[in-house]
Amino acid sequence: MNTYIQYKKATNHIAKPFAYLDLDLLDDNISQILSHSLNKQVRIASKSIRSVPVLKRIMEKSERFQGVMCFTASEAIFLSENGFDDLLIGYPISNKDYISSIAHEIKKGKQITLMVDCFKHIKIIEDAVRDENIIIPVCIDVDMSLVYPNFRFGVYRSPLRSIHEIHQLIYTIQQSKQLKLDGLMGYEAQIAGVGDQVKGKLLKNSVVQMLKKQSIQQIKELRSEIIESIKEYDLSFRFVNGGGTGSLASTCKEEVITEVTVGSGFFSPLLFDAYKDFQYKPAAGFALDIVRKPAENIYTCSGGGYVASGATGKDKLPAPYLPENANLHSLEGAGEVQTPILYKGNENLDIGDPVFFRHSKSGELCERFNSLYCISNGEVVDEYATYRGEGKCFL
Ligand SMILES: Cc1ncc(COP(=O)(O)O)c(C=O)c1O
Repeated sequence: MNTYIQYKKATNHIAKPFAYLDLDLLDDNISQILSHSLNKQVRIASKSIRSVPVLKRIMEKSERFQGVMCFTASEAIFLSENGFDDLLIGYPISNKDYISSIAHEIKKGKQITLMVDCFKHIKIIEDAVRDENIIIPVCIDVDMSLVYPNFRFGVYRSPLRSIHEIHQLIYTIQQSKQLKLDGLMGYEAQIAGVGDQVKGKLLKNSVVQMLKKQSIQQIKELRSEIIESIKEYDLSFRFVNGGGTGSLASTCKEEVITEVTVGSGFFSPLLFDAYKDFQYKPAAGFALDIVRKPAENIYTCSGGGYVASGATGKDKLPAPYLPENANLHSLEGAGEVQTPILYKGNENLDIGDPVFFRHSKSGELCERFNSLYCISNGEVVDEYATYRGEGKCFL
C-alpha cells in the first residue's frame, strides 16, 4: 500500500511533521536483501537505520543477519547495552576513553571489534588497554578504490592497498599481547555508493558503469590475492567483510567474502533509486503539513529542510513523494521552516493536508525525528523510537 490517500488516511491523527516507516515495504526489502546476498551473512549498517526497534525487527527476520556495523564507539556500547552482540565498529577510534569503555563491554563477554588501518591505530588501542588483562579483536580495513596515476574512483578512507603493507600490519597485530586479528574489511564505495542510472545523466552513467565493471574485477582479484597471501600465517580470523547495499550483486559473488554489510537498502532512500541492478521499495519518509497556498499550484509546507550529507548537490535534497507529481521549487529547495511545492496533480490539496517526502539518504532521516510511525496494511500499528528519540546523538 502506498498511495497518497491510503497514507493520508492511515496517519490522519498524527501531528505533522512526522517520520514514518512502511513495515510492509520494509519487510519486502528485507526479503529482497536476503535473496540478493545469496548465502552470505549480512551485517547491518546501523548508520543507515538509527533506530533500535528497526534493527531488532530486521535481525529477527533471519539468522543470516549476523551482527551490526556500528559507526561510533558510544553507539556500539549503547547497542551492546540494548542486547546486541557481534558489533563491528566500521571506522577507527582515536579516543582512549572510548576504547577503555569498549574493553569494559568486551570483558562482560560481548563481541566487539575495532577497526584499524595503520600502526598508530594499533598503538592507541594498546596504550588504552595496556594495564588490563584483555585481548581486543581488530579488523583491518583495506582500500578498495580503483586508483590511476591522475584519477581515483573510490573514497579516501584506509591508506592500506599493498599486500606488503597489509602483511606488516598483520604481523604487528600478531606480535601484540593485547590485540588479535578478527577480520578483514574492504568497502568498495565506488560500487556500493555511486548510482549508475541517474536520471538525466546518460553520459556520466555510461562512464560510471564502465568504471564499475573494471573496478569489480580489480577488487575481486585484490581480495582473493590478499586472502591467499595470508594463508602462510597461522591465522584463524572470523570474517571477510565487504560491500554495501549498492554492491550486493558483485560482492556476494566473491568466494572469499564471508559477510556483506547492508544498511540503506532497508529504507531505500532517494539516492538508491539510481542503480541499474536493483530497486528496493521506498519504505521510510516523512510527512509535512501544508500551511499556506501562496499561488495557484503552490502549496507551502511547514519544515522540510532535511538535507543529506556528502558532496553538495540537488541530489542531497529530500523530494516530495506522495501525492505523485509534486516537486520542490527550484529557487527555494527544501526550506529551514517553509518548503513550497509545485503541484498540478489530481488530488485536491488543502491547508492541513500532508505531503509525504523521501529523504536523500537513509539513517539521517532519524536524526530529525524522535520516532517512526509504523504503517502496515493501511494503519499505523506501532511507533518505533529513533536514536534521537532515545536522547542519543552519536555523530
Ligand atoms: C564501511 C562501510 N561499509 C558498508 C557501507 C554500506 O552502507 P549502505 O548499505 O547503507 O550503503 C558503508 C556506507 O557508507 C560503509 O561506510
